[in-house]
Amino acid sequence: MLTNLRVLLIISGGIAAYKSLELIRGLRTGGAHVRPILTKGGAQFVTPLSVASLAHEKVHSDLFSLTDESEIGHIRLARETDLVVVAPATADILAKMANGIADDLATTVLLATDRPILAAPAMNSRMWEDASTQRNLAQLHADGVMTVGPAHGELAEGEVGIGRMAEPAEILAVIENALSGPLSGVRALVTSGPTHEPIDPVRYIANRSSGKQGHAIAGACARLGAAVTLVSGPSAEADPPGVATVHVETARDMLEACLDALPADVAICAAAVSDWRPAEAREKKIKKDKSGASSTPADLKLVENPDILATLSARENDRPRLVIGFAAETDDVVAYAQSKLATKGCDWILANDVSPETGTFGGDHNKVHLISAAAAGESGVEEWPYASKLDVAARLAERIAHALGESP
Ligand code: C5P
Repeated sequence: MLTNLRVLLIISGGIAAYKSLELIRGLRTGGAHVRPILTKGGAQFVTPLSVASLAHEKVHSDLFSLTDESEIGHIRLARETDLVVVAPATADILAKMANGIADDLATTVLLATDRPILAAPAMNSRMWEDASTQRNLAQLHADGVMTVGPAHGELAEGEVGIGRMAEPAEILAVIENALSGPLSGVRALVTSGPTHEPIDPVRYIANRSSGKQGHAIAGACARLGAAVTLVSGPSAEADPPGVATVHVETARDMLEACLDALPADVAICAAAVSDWRPAEAREKKIKKDKSGASSTPADLKLVENPDILATLSARENDRPRLVIGFAAETDDVVAYAQSKLATKGCDWILANDVSPETGTFGGDHNKVHLISAAAAGESGVEEWPYASKLDVAARLAERIAHALGESP
């Protein structure tokens, strides 16, 4: 599967570096060529000799090495590869990547490369959860860097928490799918979750969307090899592995993140975007006090939010080849979805029944109809069986691969 794939593997300084030796072995067994870069910190945990022996390649570490630069400079290292993998990726290297800092060979190559980058973060859970790391991660995702992990489990310090590097087998699976699945080479944009529209600093308008269906679709597309940007409103769902996830709050932020993610081959708008937002988000908490009549909820003025699906469908120069929307209805599901196809200008609508008795909102299952513009002699309506949201996502990803394969 990985035959002749050229991987530039950057090993930065964390205890998980020992697992990168196994990753090298797995990559080579799969047929890949591995060119290793070991940072100064990485060399504290694994020796250049063990890395070189397993990779059957010279280990690069020094930006200013005369011999290295004359034989193969940092620009060639950055270009002569199909994929850059950073494993383990410490908080420090993620921070540098997010800010364009290039102060050693590894970070200079990361700045200079135009190849896909996959990072496998590994660190103590407090460092992972720290606001600065999460900010850097959001930036990296917005820049299109893919990540896998970290996982929850026992950490080096004897604590239990999130921060363990993803296992080499999981990293290998993400790499394989990215390169050989039926959606490899395809850029997919997925929206998911609700949006939160602030009323004041403590209150907001939202809806019951859990993000389960959208996240499952992002994961399913990534498993088939797509480079996926998931733009997610507030959701309890974990970021899917191998997906660049951008976290947003409001519809307007979601639209901006979607436009930033263009160009894309396919856009799937699964988010339950709030149709309205308060005309102004008050800076101070609105008091219950009736005397201040202007601040009572009866006064809450709403304005319409931008329609992300319609906006993407109407793009002139960078409209995705396939734009897919959802129609969550409680009655006349198919009829409403058919008219929505026209009003939104998208190519397909997945119509689902969200009446309370179906348990779709927040649940794990979904019943959908796929509505497309009817071809001659066809109705354009396909009924899919009641299935888990994961199965619906997998089926949709296969259908997308098929459709894009037919219309290059
Ligand atoms: O109009 P309605 O909300 O029923 O349409 C649902 C579809 O439109 C979903 O695909 C949803 O993600 C998308 N949508 C959007 N932006 C909005 C409202 C809905 O992208 N502001």
